[in-house]
Amino acid sequence: MSVVGILAAAGRGERFGAHVPKQFLPLRGIPLLIRAAQCLQEAEAVAEIVAAVPPGYQELLQRWAEEYGVQKLSRIVTGGEHRQDSVRAALETPEVQRAELVLVHDAARPFATAALVERVLRAAQQHGAAVPGLPPAETIKKVAPTGEVVQTLAREQLRRIQTPQAFRREWLVAAHAHARRLGLSATDDATLVELLGFPVVVVEGELLNLKLTTPEDWRVAEALLQAEQ
Ligand code: CTP
Ligand code: MG
Repeated sequence: MSVVGILAAAGRGERFGAHVPKQFLPLRGIPLLIRAAQCLQEAEAVAEIVAAVPPGYQELLQRWAEEYGVQKLSRIVTGGEHRQDSVRAALETPEVQRAELVLVHDAARPFATAALVERVLRAAQQHGAAVPGLPPAETIKKVAPTGEVVQTLAREQLRRIQTPQAFRREWLVAAHAHARRLGLSATDDATLVELLGFPVVVVEGELLNLKLTTPEDWRVAEALLQAEQ
């Protein structure tokens, strides 16, 4: 099984609201995207990493990869307007075209463990597409723009979906091509694979595999790292 990791690190971090994209900020001394890249670096099955970054950030990531020992990083591409465009840019590289499985991970998730990566990859090898997820702890309601509740969803059937997500390369490439043709957009890769009609299985995610979106998330992440010391 040959596996290439894609690090989606080309966002602008608008909800975070810093002067640079959040993934380039140091989280307790180590840049956020380096922490996320280390999740892939430490997973034995991942042979190479392709990262997508905003225009102008390639050299900085190259320098940091050397400094922090992310030796598997073999290519850096410029991402696009939306996450989907950034992943597609990475899919077009020769590194990815050689892979059997592709593992896509958000640069905004610094805490995924190598064990989670292995679990997702094993399931993807068996079923073709696998994503980590956890049942929501809170009651989830569908709400109209007016604020009125439309429906309360059955919690047992719901999952909060995370990255890393793994796919047979052909499936993911076909899903992105299909989405592009039809002008479909989605916030994760699994949705595009589902839209093509391929099955996606959910494996158990990790409670601490947080996605850092807002300054509040950042404070939680700092507290977690501090508690670990
Ligand atoms: N991402 C990307 N290319 C984009 C947009 C997002 O590679 N054009 C990446 C982000 O860098 C992040 C992941 O996709 O690692 C998840 O996106 P999100 O947390 O929404 O980050 P941003 O898009 O940067 O934040 P915001 O939506 O608040 O602007
Ligand atoms: Mg975004």
